[in-house]
Amino acid sequence: MPLHKIITHDSATKIYIWKIEESFEDLFDEVVLNDINLIRLNTMKSEMHQRGFLSVRKLLQEAGYSDADLHYDQDGKPHLKPNSQNIEPVEISISHSFEFSTIAISDKPIGIDIELAKEKVLKIASRFMDVSHLKDLSEEEQIRKATVVWGIKESVFKIKNEKGISFPDHIFENTFLLSDKKATAQLSFNNLIESFDIFFEEIDSNNSQNYTLVYAFEN
Ligand SMILES: CC(C)(COP(=O)(O)OP(=O)(O)OC[C@H]1O[C@@H](n2cnc3c(N)ncnc32)[C@H](O)[C@@H]1OP(=O)(O)O)[C@@H](O)C(=O)NCCC(=O)NCCS
Repeated sequence: MPLHKIITHDSATKIYIWKIEESFEDLFDEVVLNDINLIRLNTMKSEMHQRGFLSVRKLLQEAGYSDADLHYDQDGKPHLKPNSQNIEPVEISISHSFEFSTIAISDKPIGIDIELAKEKVLKIASRFMDVSHLKDLSEEEQIRKATVVWGIKESVFKIKNEKGISFPDHIFENTFLLSDKKATAQLSFNNLIESFDIFFEEIDSNNSQNYTLVYAFEN
């Protein structure tokens, strides 16, 4: 089943996760794209990216929406038109990474990120996070935790989407444990400090590759 999981976070927030096992052709046959997104699909360089993009449309279908309900602003941030089931404002956030894609749909602003945990994250950790948060952990735990922190920063950025936000200078994760499955973070930008509640979980792809799902709400 390519629909990997649905997380019901609360009565108005659901996270949909797709495991991308279908070919490009199969996915393409199963979704209808608007003209702009068809052009965008055709300009994508990698087939993996195209399959990620198409699988997001499969997730939209699962959630009762279609590509026609989705539009992007000038920064590339996605927005959803309310559908017949939903007259309240609906917020969406999207992420894809190799074998997985995910969408978050909520009545409140939400940011989501899915990342493949790779060793490489430790080489760049000091450029985006407080590395003291990796102290006393095994290398494997450091990779997992740094990947969560990367996801925290991406998720917060996706909610705020303001030009000039830098991961190391403006978004700060508070201390947390991997076993907590939740955390908090602050965005300190333009003389304003805003707090975020973070939730995360690790997804095993069954081929020894671990993915990390992170989502954030403004507090
Ligand atoms: C825009 C950005 C958040 C995308 O993240 P990514 O890890 O490259 O890719 P993901 O798969 O997680 O997310 C891509 C999705 O994010 C969404 N997105 C793109 N731009 C966005 C924005 N400005 N705000 C919110 N969501 C955005 C889109 O839906 C996109 O997927 P789609 O175009 O296929 O629908 C990221 O590239 C970025 O610009 N980050 C901020 C810049 C930064 O500080 N980077 C690191 C510095 S150390």
